[in-house]
Amino acid sequence: MDLELDGRVALITGTSIGIGRETAKTLAAEGMRLVLVARRLELLRELQNEIFRTGAHEPLAIAKDVTAPNAHFEIRDQVLSAFGHIDVLINNAGGSRPIPVDAPEDAWEEAMALNFTAVRRLTHAFLPTMIERRWGRIINITGTSEPRGLNAAYSAKAAVHAWAKGLSREIGKYAITINSLAPGRIMSEQIVNRINPGDEHREQFARDFIPLGYFGEPKDMAYAVAFLASPKARYITGELLAIDGGMRRFAF
Ligand SMILES: NC(=O)c1ccc[n+]([C@@H]2O[C@H](COP(=O)([O-])OP(=O)(O)OC[C@H]3O[C@@H](n4cnc5c(N)ncnc54)[C@H](OP(=O)(O)O)[C@@H]3O)[C@@H](O)[C@H]2O)c1
Repeated sequence: MDLELDGRVALITGTSIGIGRETAKTLAAEGMRLVLVARRLELLRELQNEIFRTGAHEPLAIAKDVTAPNAHFEIRDQVLSAFGHIDVLINNAGGSRPIPVDAPEDAWEEAMALNFTAVRRLTHAFLPTMIERRWGRIINITGTSEPRGLNAAYSAKAAVHAWAKGLSREIGKYAITINSLAPGRIMSEQIVNRINPGDEHREQFARDFIPLGYFGEPKDMAYAVAFLASPKARYITGELLAIDGGMRRFAF
């Protein structure tokens, strides 16, 4: 199946490692022209070279903290001056950690700023150009809606789900879709180092909680992103899809 992505412009946040990095490689292989955004420039440069060496379009790399006050406008301006427009926006930068009941205000603010506010701001910064072109794809990488305990990122991701649903109803008339993908346990830096460290612990967790019996790989996310980015996914919007090997327990 031709995903018809060749030559289209996509911006992916959080591309220095993990799901974002793999997604960039997958979309580059489909012929997309990419913008890579994260804070660690040296990792973005490595990825930029790696993609270019495959014969794909050389991506634009923007080293930026997406939570910085004017980051959304600065990123938008750089993208529009390089490409003139954007077709696909992938809001992937994010992260989570459990917090205690008496966590300081800062912990909540930080999680909301990264996992919700930055996503909303960047999307709204690019909406006018998508509306003008009467086409666009917005894909949010979110997270579980089944909290195992207190974690400010879960609340922020839930805010993304509600905001995206509302927005889908406003922008559908311009052929712009917005969808969210919720990873379960995908092997990445934060999973391996922080959330599920240790092979034995991960094997036990997978046996106990993941019907397919193993942790996912970033590719498992990247393929779903590629489909949602495609014109072929034109009739899917306002959706939330878990990519979790069956870990999510509720039925709708
Ligand atoms: N892996 C999973 O199983 C899992 C589960 C649930 C949800 N998720 C969600 O999936 C997304 C990707 O996760 P991942 O596992 O691939 O995470 P990861 O390996 O920790 O990568 C996170 C990416 O986000 C970037 N980032 C973090 N803070 C940033 C900031 N302030 N400004 C710009 N970039 C920033 C990081 O780059 P720099 O550090 O270079 O800035 C990095 O490229 C996240 O939204 C995460 O919450 C993942």
